Amino acid sequence: MSTKELLNFDHIVIGSGLAGLFTAIQLSKLGSVAVITKRGIDESNTRYAQGGIACVMDKKEDSFKQHVKDTMGAGDHLCKAEIVRTIVENGPSAVNELIHLGAHFTTRGEMGHKQDGKDYDLGREGGHTRRRVLHAGDITGEEVEKILISTCRSKQNITFFENHIAIDLITTSRLGWLGEDSVHGAYVLDTHKNIVKTFTSMSVTVATGGAGKVYLYTSNPDIACGDGVAMCYRAHVPIENMEFFQFHPTILYHPKVTSFLISEAVRGEGAILKRLDAKGDLVEFMDRYHEMKSLAPRDIVARAIDNELKRSGQNCVFLDIRHKKEDFLRRRFPNIFEKCMEVGINMAVDPIPVVPAAHYCCGGVKTGVNGFTGINGLYAVGEVASTGLHGANRLASNSLLEALVVAKFAAKDIKSKMRKLSDSRASGKIPTWRSGNATNSDEQVVITHNWEEIRKFMWDYVGIFRTNKRLERAKNRIKNIRREIEKYYWDFLITPDLVELRNIASVAEIIIDSAMSRKESRGLHFNADYPQREPEMDFVDTVIQQPYS
Ligand code: FAD
Ligand code: SIN
Repeated sequence: MSTKELLNFDHIVIGSGLAGLFTAIQLSKLGSVAVITKRGIDESNTRYAQGGIACVMDKKEDSFKQHVKDTMGAGDHLCKAEIVRTIVENGPSAVNELIHLGAHFTTRGEMGHKQDGKDYDLGREGGHTRRRVLHAGDITGEEVEKILISTCRSKQNITFFENHIAIDLITTSRLGWLGEDSVHGAYVLDTHKNIVKTFTSMSVTVATGGAGKVYLYTSNPDIACGDGVAMCYRAHVPIENMEFFQFHPTILYHPKVTSFLISEAVRGEGAILKRLDAKGDLVEFMDRYHEMKSLAPRDIVARAIDNELKRSGQNCVFLDIRHKKEDFLRRRFPNIFEKCMEVGINMAVDPIPVVPAAHYCCGGVKTGVNGFTGINGLYAVGEVASTGLHGANRLASNSLLEALVVAKFAAKDIKSKMRKLSDSRASGKIPTWRSGNATNSDEQVVITHNWEEIRKFMWDYVGIFRTNKRLERAKNRIKNIRREIEKYYWDFLITPDLVELRNIASVAEIIIDSAMSRKESRGLHFNADYPQREPEMDFVDTVIQQPYS
């Protein structure tokens, strides 16, 4: 395999979801930017976002104080209050920038309200006490991604590298050099040409998104392998609160459809969660779990569904919004309505079968509100990062908001450090990637087997309901698999599947270790051996870091 190609940019952004693209737009004012992305430019979690962006746009009915309170409430005594306040208060200006770039959000007029027709039609989701979710029908992510891609394409100093998967970060410590740890670029596999390229730069922003593929059932697309968390971990950046993996309560349950989300906004418009009773009637059950019933925070709803399914032995529960007119449902949820119709479910007539699935990684690469990781020039923005906004359970639709605000702060921080970053630049001296070159017909089956095994035991043992025994079982298995992968990684020709498997395994182990170290139940982390929240653990983060040797 050739490893000789060297490319120099002022700034590198890894990932082309909202976090990566919005950061690239900000950085394009400072110099040349490479956007590296492992599939097509628009393939990302962002593209599938439905509910919208939580933001205080209506100061009469809502307030920053209330948004902060709802975020902190969902986060179960683990959010960082100052970070929450900063992100919430800077939301409107970041969202307005997006609107200025051309993003269109649904207005009340479009929903048939004559009065205040130009005002935004704000949705509601679990844990929110107000309507504050700005949306583009139920395809908010598609709208945002489209606008950001076209804006990036219009900037001469942004270059896209599609089908390029980042393998590892190049840092001072990785190179064995002395001095303050700085990032110098990344090794990247061009998956079409099958060559590893060396990208060098003054700053690297990791915006690789989430890690839903660590679990067997997920709402996330295939790109969500936790690559950024694993790369930063190998670069010795602290990784925070990974035990808090969010399970979305309502993924469509149908043999012909995988990973299709039924937005929480459907509950925001009045849908009620129900299950079948012994007589075969649909009955409500969330009233037994939380005062907000079907609109309770996500951790509580997902756990309640899990409990109901285990007690009844049934395969799914149901979302019932049959009291709404078909015309309203088609207008408010065009994509969801269509998808359900494709498999014979008319939301206005039929209850929708749903189950929980892995959805959002609340923890991640530890950063400040400006995305800075502590390593000179290295930033993490979006779902890959942990700023302290989400705590033990993310409030719905706060992630797009966080990515927008933090992207702006990151670019500002990079701008303020340009002289220092330029001085520590080391492009000429960086060695190219060294890789094994053996191939083996056995390789693919080993990769597939390990991949499936990890996702299955993570679902069974490190999912919604955990116990010490389950976590120990998962730990034993992941140790063996990681040993096997490390051998493959260095002996055999590097492939995208191998890169992703190595990262999935690493993230799985970090989740397991984080879960084992938290001896209580809080937010999304429930361990039946420690069923209570321990007040002395309030605002105490779990931090895992690969030691410098
Ligand atoms: P992504 O949008 O996931 O982008 C990551 C990018 O990194 C991708 O381009 C990927 O290909 C690339 N990448 C990954 N690894 C590598 C690598 N090694 N090398 C190169 N490129 C790489 N949140 C909300 O706030 N509101 C919602 O309504 C909402 N709805 C959602 C619905 C669904 C179905 C899902 C899955 C999530 C939803 N979320 C929602 C969560 C939200 O969409 C994500 O948290 C957010 O979009 C993450 O943005 P990001 O830019 O950080 O990552
Ligand atoms: C949804 O629309 O239910 C997803 C919102 C989110 O994950 O924030």
